[in-house]
Amino acid sequence: MPSSRLSLVLRLVVAFYTCLAAAAQTQEPLIAQPGYKVGQPIPVSCLNRTIDTGEHITDESGQLSYVPAFTCNETGRPLELYFGIEKEINCTIDFIDDPFFHLLEFYVHNDAPLTCRIPTKPLPPAVLKDEFEKGSQDLTEGQGSLSDVYTPLIVALTGTLQLSHLHVSTSLNVLVHAVPKSVAPGTIAAATAYSISREPPSRIVIGDPLPLRFSVRWYPNTALPSGWTGIGGHLTFSTFVYCALSALASAAICVTYFRGVELPRRLRSHGKDRLGGIERGGLGAGGLGGYGIPNGYGYGKRD
Ligand SMILES: *[C@@H]1O[C@H](CO)[C@@H](O)[C@H](O)[C@H]1NC(C)=O
Ligand SMILES: *[C@@H]1O[C@H](CO)[C@@H](O)[C@H](O)[C@H]1NC(C)=O
Ligand SMILES: *[C@@H]1O[C@H](CO)[C@@H](O)[C@H](O)[C@H]1NC(C)=O
Repeated sequence: MPSSRLSLVLRLVVAFYTCLAAAAQTQEPLIAQPGYKVGQPIPVSCLNRTIDTGEHITDESGQLSYVPAFTCNETGRPLELYFGIEKEINCTIDFIDDPFFHLLEFYVHNDAPLTCRIPTKPLPPAVLKDEFEKGSQDLTEGQGSLSDVYTPLIVALTGTLQLSHLHVSTSLNVLVHAVPKSVAPGTIAAATAYSISREPPSRIVIGDPLPLRFSVRWYPNTALPSGWTGIGGHLTFSTFVYCALSALASAAICVTYFRGVELPRRLRSHGKDRLGGIERGGLGAGGLGGYGIPNGYGYGKRD
């Protein structure tokens, strides 16, 4: 029949296109790129800026130029994070030269942000090599912030500008969110870093070392857990339920104790009283008075 043959052809065409679309999707190199393993180093690179104006530097093709982050004296390597590892990282910049001092002035004076980025997933070896040898060409900058090759890591470095020197808050928190493991394992979702301005700043002049102290924390999704549990924190439903249950439990224990231990004891001693025919004077004329005043009756009799 012609109609059934036509539907067969249609179905074949649809199947062909579905297959083609699937193939085209898997061809995107970084989608197929495996994620980070726990503990795998993540290189940090930062935007290169001119020292006269703090403006970002672009290469000949107009791409923003990211260069490996400052070298840490502790490791002899540019700053690295480690996937899923919460730790304190000391990264001392050995010697602040004149150009870097000027850049620090731009950062703490809010003329330019310290704009860094980390690869969302490990970069393929070719790009990695290119990145670190040629001093970085951003292959995907055309996609702007929608690029999923890198995740921005803006470092909000704070401090104050003095006439002859700088005060820089060198203790920083670094927060990194991963995409939930069930969605895309080993993938970074968001990151940020900020100075803790409350801590005493480091006084910096040209030629000094800059002792940066990073506290790195990781989150398994993009939600920030509530960290506020002290006084003034909100009363959660579970706290309320906990309090109500413990009140009920203590009431139950009291009733059980009174019924099972205290009441029979009092009844017994009351009975003995009766049998012994002890005169109780004016104080506890009835049995009721004895129950109402603890210690008053029971103990007095034993003494
Ligand atoms: C940053 O840009 C300046 C000026 O173009 C250049 O001299 C310097 O080598 C660049 N920094 C790095 C680490 O490539
Ligand atoms: C980092 O440096 C501080 C002193 O500034 C030191 O007390 C601390 O032990 C160091 N931490 C690590 C992990 O090296
Ligand atoms: C940096 O490391 C070198 C060699 O390990 C050492 O001589 C120098 O004192 C260190 N500088 C700082 C600021 O720790």
